[in-house]
Amino acid sequence: MLPDWPAWSTTGITCERTMSGDIVVSLPIADWNGPFDPDLGRHAVAALEAGRVVCLTGLAFTTLPEEAVLLSPALLDNSRKNISFDPASGRVSGSAEHPALLAAMLARFARSAESMLRGLLIPYADTLWAGRTSFRPAEIAGRAYSPRHDDRRLHVDAFPSRPIGGARILRLFTVLPQASAARAWRIGEPFESVAAGFLPALPSPAPLRARLYALLGLTKGVQSAYDQMMLALHDRMKLDADYQRQASYTARTFSPGSTWLCFTDQVSHAALSGHMMLEQTFHVPVQSMLDPEQSPLRVLERLAGRALA
Ligand SMILES: [Fe+2]
Repeated sequence: MLPDWPAWSTTGITCERTMSGDIVVSLPIADWNGPFDPDLGRHAVAALEAGRVVCLTGLAFTTLPEEAVLLSPALLDNSRKNISFDPASGRVSGSAEHPALLAAMLARFARSAESMLRGLLIPYADTLWAGRTSFRPAEIAGRAYSPRHDDRRLHVDAFPSRPIGGARILRLFTVLPQASAARAWRIGEPFESVAAGFLPALPSPAPLRARLYALLGLTKGVQSAYDQMMLALHDRMKLDADYQRQASYTARTFSPGSTWLCFTDQVSHAALSGHMMLEQTFHVPVQSMLDPEQSPLRVLERLAGRALA
């Protein structure tokens, strides 16, 4: 459980109670490299697992002078909304411009994010692994998206082609200080409410289809029942116009030069506007959580009455 506000203001941690009852927790962290106060780390883990957004108020990612040429939406290949980087292979996709410079900047960001998370989130330090890095230079407001790809609609994250079994999706976001506008988010209702509302409409898991997709190379591995349910939940949330109109949410902006993280498989979120953002994805095994019962996997298993991964 999170300590009661305002008892922990003495540690420099601040906490916003939002209209829907969710909380954004702000921690005074100003360096990508530790050592970090273990007390801050404990608060961060408790807040993340409870479905809070953790804001690192003093932490900006600084670019190098020669990287100024990268800070432009013109970098994007036609119709792409993101530039993607695989820290494991060093491969960049989504842009053909300045490949070496771009890879170096994204690799430096990936290393910074990983260093911070391994130093701050001690219970996850030995078992978390990094996924892809994403650079989103273009303004997202006013662009045309299909409903399923429209991240301006409330959703929880799930990956269509990269099954993760039952592992968590933990994402760190930072708006570059050079951005001319804040990133505007909506933070939706708690995961259990979302899941309970949509569960009757979700299709039953289809193990044969999961094996077929893997055989055809449509997915990198076989989707678990959990992977399939989370994908269906992601799609149903975005495609349900009534839900998008009526769901309760809290508006929150993240200024240029600010950094935040949350379990995006659990926190219902929508990104309405903003540009010049970097994002690093991590995965955490459910078994590494201090309270696995709060994971979407365990919540869905409780609601469905069966094991899903
Ligand atoms: Fe998302």
